[in-house]
Amino acid sequence: MRRPIIAANWKMHKTHLEAMHFVESLRNRLAPSDYDRVEVVVCPPFTALRTVQTTIDGADLDIGLGAQNMHWEEKGAYTGEISSPMLVKLSVTYVIIGHSERREIFGETDEWVNKKVKAAFEHDLLPIMCVGETLAEREEGGTEAKVERQVRAGLAGVPKDRLPSLVIAYEPIWAIGTGRNAYPDDAQATIAFIRSTVRSVAGDAADEVRIQYGGSVKAGNIAGFMAQPDIDGALVGGASLDPEEFALIVRYDTSSS
Ligand code: PGA
Repeated sequence: MRRPIIAANWKMHKTHLEAMHFVESLRNRLAPSDYDRVEVVVCPPFTALRTVQTTIDGADLDIGLGAQNMHWEEKGAYTGEISSPMLVKLSVTYVIIGHSERREIFGETDEWVNKKVKAAFEHDLLPIMCVGETLAEREEGGTEAKVERQVRAGLAGVPKDRLPSLVIAYEPIWAIGTGRNAYPDDAQATIAFIRSTVRSVAGDAADEVRIQYGGSVKAGNIAGFMAQPDIDGALVGGASLDPEEFALIVRYDTSSS
C-alpha cells in the first residue's frame, strides 16, 4: 500500500513569520488521524525553512519539511544556490526537483534534473521530481513522449535501491495556477503511463514509487484525484497558501467523489 503524500508548494510566497502562522493554524485544523492517513509535507521558500522546522518540532507535529529546489554540488562558487547538506542540516526531508517553473522560467534541463535527483539521494533527501506537458504538447498528442523522456532522463543512473522512495509529481503545465485542473481520469491515464515507464527503468520499485497529481488542486476537486488507483497524492500550489483550504485538501473524502 502506498501512503498518500500531499505537499504544499508555496513557491515564492510567505515570509518566515507568515509561514510560522500558517503552521500554527494548520495544527489546529488537523487531527492525529489525518497524519496517520496522509503524509503531509510543507515546502516553504528557503528563507522560511528554519522557522517552519522549529515550529513543527516545537509542536511535535508530524509534518514533513520540503525544499523547492537545490543545487547538485555540495558546495562551491554558485552564488545564490543552496546545497543538499545545507537542507539536511535543517531537517529537510523532501526536495522538489525540476518543477515546470524551474524548467520553463529558469531553463533547467533534464540533465540538471538528473544531477539534482542523484545528489538528493546521495544525501538522503527524497526527491519530488516533477514532469508534465505544455498545452501545445498535449494538443499535438505528445504528452506521453514528453513525460517518458523526462522520467527516463531524470532517473538515469539513479541507484535502483533508492528508487522506491522516489516521489514523482505529474503536473500538466496548462493546469498549473490556471484554475483549469486535468480531469481525474485523464490524470490517472498519464500517471499509469508514468508508472509503467518507471517499471521499465526500475522494475518492481514502480509499485512503491508515489506519483502525485499537481495543477489547480483544491478542496473541491482533490477527492476525484485521490479516488484514482495510481494517484498517490497531490502537489498543491495556490490552494496550499491558505491553511483552512490546505487542511480540507488533506482531509479529502473519496466517498464524496
Ligand atoms: P497550483 O500549482 O496548485 O497553483 O496549480 C501546483 C504546482 O505548481 O505545484
